[in-house]
Amino acid sequence: MPERVCIIGLGYVGLPLACLCVEKGFEVKGFDIDRQRIEKITRGVPPIRDSFLEKTLPLVYEKIKVSSKQGDVLPNTDIFIVAVPTPAEKSRPDLKPLKSACRAISKFVSKNSLVIIESTIYPGTVEEIVLPILEKSGLKCSQDFLLGHCPERIDPGNKKFVLQKIPRVLACTSPEGNKKALDFYRSIIDADIMVLNSVREAEAVKVVENTFRDINIAYVNELAKSFEKMKIDLPQVIRGASTKPFGYMPFYPGPGVGGHCIAQDPYYLISKARKHGFEHSFLKLARKINNSMPAHVVGIIESALAAKNIKLEDSKICILGLSYKPDIDDTRESPSLKIVDLLLKKRVKLKIFDPFLPKESNVASLIEAIAGCNCIVLCAHHSQFVEKLSPEFLAANNAQIIVDTHNVLDKKGIQAKGIVYKGVGA
Ligand SMILES: NC(=O)c1ccc[n+]([C@@H]2O[C@H](COP(=O)([O-])OP(=O)(O)OC[C@H]3O[C@@H](n4cnc5c(N)ncnc54)[C@H](O)[C@@H]3O)[C@@H](O)[C@H]2O)c1
Repeated sequence: MPERVCIIGLGYVGLPLACLCVEKGFEVKGFDIDRQRIEKITRGVPPIRDSFLEKTLPLVYEKIKVSSKQGDVLPNTDIFIVAVPTPAEKSRPDLKPLKSACRAISKFVSKNSLVIIESTIYPGTVEEIVLPILEKSGLKCSQDFLLGHCPERIDPGNKKFVLQKIPRVLACTSPEGNKKALDFYRSIIDADIMVLNSVREAEAVKVVENTFRDINIAYVNELAKSFEKMKIDLPQVIRGASTKPFGYMPFYPGPGVGGHCIAQDPYYLISKARKHGFEHSFLKLARKINNSMPAHVVGIIESALAAKNIKLEDSKICILGLSYKPDIDDTRESPSLKIVDLLLKKRVKLKIFDPFLPKESNVASLIEAIAGCNCIVLCAHHSQFVEKLSPEFLAANNAQIIVDTHNVLDKKGIQAKGIVYKGVGA
């Protein structure tokens, strides 16, 4: 009989995992508190824009039993996998969804069940928070049921590193847990899986990965501000530095950091370390620098307009792309939204277009978006924008100023057409 897997939280992490488990022959169930999401999944419609789900869900949805009622799907489960959000509220970890998911599992966990937390958490969460909630079942962790952490590394929209090709780390509270979890992940993942010495190490791996990115992006964002003053083209410098085959890894400046992970996870480590009497000044500075970037972009827009004697408040600006990264519809913590907010506060007239987010757009096409605007701001560099926004296209559509927040357009070609080009650090 196939093992019965129940995934709790069917979003960017949980739903692709559910599809993968079906493909690998497990009996799969899913629990989510969002009824609309459940309703869509039962019809085979992905509740989020994701290329993997768009391809896979229609083929497998009939084999996933999903519900927003605990009693429909949580009983009779061998492996529970938790993929609920772990947001930060006012820079503090908000573990309410995780605690609530664990309370639900505690009602149905049984002897020999394995519970794996895939949500991103700070070191100590599994043993200090999850374990006591699960033991309210009357069962003992490691003795009756198995518990561990296998942080998810999925990169929505990344066609090369799809879920089953991404190496994983994991650790459980007991050797039996490690064995069962390793067997499970080996059966679904075609990449290396490393078992760490403790659950705290596995928890720390994920926050280290994401704080590493936040710090390095903050570093290049700070360089961008400095090099703009010195009139040094930072993207070119990064290209130059990248020719060194060791000891350097390129990161790129931009409008700030978004998404559920990098913009939030550093707060998990900062807050946990603070409870242990340590202040992470480096991480706090990185957050501050990255959070300052949307305002910096507004400054770039304002000075480019001023050079043409246009006041920001009298201008009409086109915002292209609202998601926090290209080719997806996820706007969580997106710097684009912060740029929009800052401009609206200054009463700027905005035309907003994101083909992945038609409901949040106020125009229906790229041509309509840029027509009659004083300045075009490329916020999310969706492939279709990058392909379309050639110097010729911009000139043919009377573009005056373009602010390319990811430095992905043809700067020289655009300038050669007499259009003002501004990048971030470029
Ligand atoms: N999105 C990513 O790229 C990514 C990558 C790696 C890790 N993670 C981590 O994975 C976790 C999930 O992230 P996500 O992006 O999939 O979030 P998401 O918001 O896309 O999905 C989470 C789902 O959980 C549901 N949910 C909330 N509370 C619940 C509860 N108590 N019981 C059942 N369902 C509940 C929500 O309705 C939602 O459908 C987070 O900890 C995140 O940091 C995310």
